Amino acid sequence: MQKIIILDFGSQTTQLIGRRIRELDTFCEILPYNKFPKDDPTVIGVILSGSPYSVHDPEAFKVDLSQFVGKVPVLGICYGAQYISHKNGGRVEQTGTREYGRVNLTTVDFDNPLFKGFNENSQVWMSHGDTITAIPDDCHVIASTTDVKFASYASIKNPLWAVQFHPEVYHSLQGKTLLKNFVVDICGSKQEWSPASYVETTVKQLREQVGKDRVILGLSGGVDSSVCATLLNKAIGKNLTCIFVDHGMLRKNEFSKVMEAYEGLGLNVVGVDASEKFFKDLEGVTDPEQKRKIIGRDFVEVFNAEAKKITDAKWLAQGTIYPDRIESLSITGMVIKSHHNVGGLPKDMHLQLCEPLKWLFKDEVRRVGYELGMPEHLIKRHPFPGPGLAVRILGDITREKVRILQEADDIYIENMHNYVCDDGEVLYDKVWQAGTILLSTIRSVGVMGDERTYEHPVALRAVTSTDAMSADWAHLPYDFMAKVSNEIINKVKGVNRVCYDISSKPPSTIEWE
Ligand code: XMP
Repeated sequence: MQKIIILDFGSQTTQLIGRRIRELDTFCEILPYNKFPKDDPTVIGVILSGSPYSVHDPEAFKVDLSQFVGKVPVLGICYGAQYISHKNGGRVEQTGTREYGRVNLTTVDFDNPLFKGFNENSQVWMSHGDTITAIPDDCHVIASTTDVKFASYASIKNPLWAVQFHPEVYHSLQGKTLLKNFVVDICGSKQEWSPASYVETTVKQLREQVGKDRVILGLSGGVDSSVCATLLNKAIGKNLTCIFVDHGMLRKNEFSKVMEAYEGLGLNVVGVDASEKFFKDLEGVTDPEQKRKIIGRDFVEVFNAEAKKITDAKWLAQGTIYPDRIESLSITGMVIKSHHNVGGLPKDMHLQLCEPLKWLFKDEVRRVGYELGMPEHLIKRHPFPGPGLAVRILGDITREKVRILQEADDIYIENMHNYVCDDGEVLYDKVWQAGTILLSTIRSVGVMGDERTYEHPVALRAVTSTDAMSADWAHLPYDFMAKVSNEIINKVKGVNRVCYDISSKPPSTIEWE
């Protein structure tokens, strides 16, 4: 399949470039700046990303442009544009005028294929400290702003374009047009990447890869592992065995509901109720990290014991998705999220790894889910942490505390499913993630009827986000919050106060522990 290579120089928006290209139904790979694949005939174009560095920094990332310039079409974005200029006899200077934000292209060469369909004064997004003050001899300027003469330039010798602005960000209003011009018209993408084609080719590949072998997969109830299982089920049917461990700290009735949904999908699922073990091992433990460690360890033990019963298994499948892998390639060295999908590999079973979603972004995983005919409630589920409600109960964990939290959380989430916003969208679908936290180390006084109460508060959390790396607290409607608060206090014995968490990430995190 044709592909575009995006060489990553460490910009925050590199992943966005990837998503935009995929939205053009074109396959792309994001690779570290120094990992351009040799002799790959499927590469139809190259994009150089932005970077936190200046081309003049001694530690700035460098790439040998001759690997691809003149061979396939190239587009340099921001640092990419500066680097191309810097390396080919142009000039990049620290002019001291850092440009950040929305600007308009005041002159554009509308005949250049990169700007086909552009409007006059099109708005673009700039974010750069250095400025290109001279371009290479064989290049000519094709767009300018009031302050930046070389907002975009192109080579007359090679299929090479460069833009100082960021077409991948939403604020570049015709950014999508520009990327489409590059990917489709200039590079010649046949736009053959789609959820349907992905399912078709992956099912074929999976059949070749695993043949008649048995595959084990750990299900969590989340979108990634569920889509992964459904895809494998389509490919190999009964040779897939899924294991779903109940540690006792899932949401109210979640285990039975999710098991039902999986069985409805025709999956071969083994449900393991291991709650006794988890509650016993967590008894009296209050430290958040300690709780996480115990749950992680117990989970691996339970999963492995179950996996070992499947003696003929040769493969372990995981719902790893593309952003998990890009993060682990992160060249700026900032590991933001550790990998959560893995239950731990039983080493003595010598299983090989199978990761059929490893090329997909989160929204594509959902599109593949729809393509596979999965029920909407499984596809649209909010993310839920592996350790479950244990990281949403402050202090030690007991069955009673879990029960209280399950009741309160169920009221919150059900109301969220039932609340239709002014624009017609369901509130649950508008937020990235919502959950309830039991502040069981705190008590406060209340009055109910004629009686004094002295009970725990719960905190409601809801955030908007695109990837959970950063998040903002969701601005929930007041009438919704009032209804939820009333219902929780009236119906959940043990709770007499409801608060709303208005912290963003960073500096807070989504989960409380
Ligand atoms: P934080 O709290 O770090 O959470 O802002 C970011 C995202 O990760 C989820 N999360 C986990 N998921 N195992 C998981 O599978 C875990 O141990 C875990 N801890 C946090 C969290 O719900 C949010 O979506």
